[in-house]
Amino acid sequence: MPKVVVLRWGHRHRDQRLTSHVALTARALGASGFIMADITDSKVEETIEKVTACWGGDFQFEMGQPWKRVVKDWRAQNGITVHLTAYGENIQTSDVMKRIRMTKKDVLVIVGSQKVPAGFFSKSVSDFNVAVGNQPHSECSSLAVFLDRFFEGQELSEDVIRNAKKKIVPQARGKRVVEF
Ligand SMILES: C[S@@+](CC[C@H](N)C(=O)[O-])C[C@H]1O[C@@H](n2cnc3c(N)ncnc32)[C@H](O)[C@@H]1O
Repeated sequence: MPKVVVLRWGHRHRDQRLTSHVALTARALGASGFIMADITDSKVEETIEKVTACWGGDFQFEMGQPWKRVVKDWRAQNGITVHLTAYGENIQTSDVMKRIRMTKKDVLVIVGSQKVPAGFFSKSVSDFNVAVGNQPHSECSSLAVFLDRFFEGQELSEDVIRNAKKKIVPQARGKRVVEF
């Protein structure tokens, strides 16, 4: 299965919880890593590293790299880029997901925050512009739906995660957690 890494553009320090939530969404729904472009924020890093240390996995967190370099390097390694935007090809009514899968390449998913630079829509940045419905909503919700469709739900059934210190035992009521 090709790997997916998420590139977040436009983090605001006063809104650091949202960036953390985008990264946690990426981790929980099967992405291999998250890159916070152009800026650093130790609070976001701390949150993600704590979650990964506790709940396991090899999720890679990076920050500070200029987004242009991330895109360039990704493509140089033969990956494709997918920009999530309400203005893109509709994930439900077009065959865009089929075309993305057909490439069989690793995917860099780009999500914005406030309005993204116009260049994000061009071929020089995004191989695909994908809309999770053509209504504006949020980077968290669009990322979650994209990843779930890309991995066809398989990412949700992962039971034992490498290096986990804790694991939730699903049940109808109450909370059960086992510690290793
Ligand atoms: C709050 S929206 C920002 C919208 C901004 N006002 C604009 O006009 O681009 C933040 C991010 O959520 C994602 N997003 C929002 N709605 C989306 C949709 N319907 N499909 C895909 N991505 C979406 C995009 O990545 C967008 O950059």
